[in-house]
Amino acid sequence: MRLLVTGAAGFIGSTYVRTVLEERPDDEIVVLDKLTYAGRRENLEEVADRIEFVEGAIEDRETVLEAMEGCDAVVNFAAESHVDRSISDQYAFVHTHVLGTSVLLDATRHHGVARYLQVSTDEVYGSIEEGSFTERSPLNPSSPYSATKAAGDLLVSAHVHTYGLEAVICRGSNNYGPRQYPEKLIPLCILNAMAGDHLPVYGDGRQVRNWLYVEDFARAIDLVLREGTPGEAYNVGGPDEEENIEVVRRILELTGRDESLIEHVTDRPGHDRRYSLSSDKVRALGWEPRVRFAEGLERTVEWYRDNEWWWGPIRSGEYREYYERHYGRSLG
Ligand code: NAD
Ligand code: TYD
Repeated sequence: MRLLVTGAAGFIGSTYVRTVLEERPDDEIVVLDKLTYAGRRENLEEVADRIEFVEGAIEDRETVLEAMEGCDAVVNFAAESHVDRSISDQYAFVHTHVLGTSVLLDATRHHGVARYLQVSTDEVYGSIEEGSFTERSPLNPSSPYSATKAAGDLLVSAHVHTYGLEAVICRGSNNYGPRQYPEKLIPLCILNAMAGDHLPVYGDGRQVRNWLYVEDFARAIDLVLREGTPGEAYNVGGPDEEENIEVVRRILELTGRDESLIEHVTDRPGHDRRYSLSSDKVRALGWEPRVRFAEGLERTVEWYRDNEWWWGPIRSGEYREYYERHYGRSLG
């Protein structure tokens, strides 16, 4: 298979590319990535000589049509992925998730590509107090991030119904693992704890997330791409649900710090209280998560400890400015 993988210079997309090349060395991969603040060529360093890399945006029709030439499948990871940034400035989210997805779908149809997979999120369903969302739950997004991701999902459904496109959607819960940009809770807290900086916990910290190790999500995406029923969505939820405050405490333990570093800060506006996915449908295809939260978190802390070459330049660049703007204080 020749795959066009968009957004693969980011956290999950780069893990997916490594997974595919390990499991099916004969597959060919073209990566299309705009290299935003979150996209880094270093994430694909180990496989650089086995992929074609095109720098460009999914909303740029000419670039997309050219990159997609000869492909058998498209996997769309390209996105602005941080909820807090969508709250302060939503336009890039609208641009990439709505216009970008539309251009990609249209190009997929134009080239007659057999398969399209949209990488989506549990956040399109909104917050749930008890129980878990299934694929039949209504979309009820709360943030500009999740609203624009939901718009992308609806465009996919429209192309299935109107043009008969063989598209599938994979909705993952919160991912964590190596190479995640440190704006997200887990890497942010690991790096802050290592540096002796405070760990900012929004509100009471009792919000719940359904944590999924990134390699488990990558395997699920590949399975759904190959075995999923065209036109269907598949939820991919992690094996463990944890309150944020508990996640932060475990990070402090793993980094040998005490709880005096925890600082409760102003809550995120419109903060979803709990996410939880039922993954029965993807499990029926033969997937199951292999990494429990305790083990995955240990692996993740170890990776950040061993890979300062990766995060050092980030913590001293754009991220530092973002951090000051968002948290109103400097990184140590
Ligand atoms: P990320 O921010 O690490 O990477 C996003 C990548 O997309 C970057 O390489 C960036 O350069 C690229 N990109 C952004 N806009 C682009 C555009 N217009 N054209 C081309 N490339 C563009 O994000 P991630 O955490 O790896 O998330 C990947 C996908 O998975 C996203 O679609 C996200 O919504 C979804 N998702 C993420 C999570 C999570 O917990 N991180 C959970 C479920 C689903
Ligand atoms: P995040 O990693 O931004 O993912 P998402 O918003 O997509 O779930 O946040 C995970 C949880 O951690 C979420 O409930 C918000 C919370 N959080 C904090 O408490 N402090 C922080 O500094 C950040 C970035 C997140």
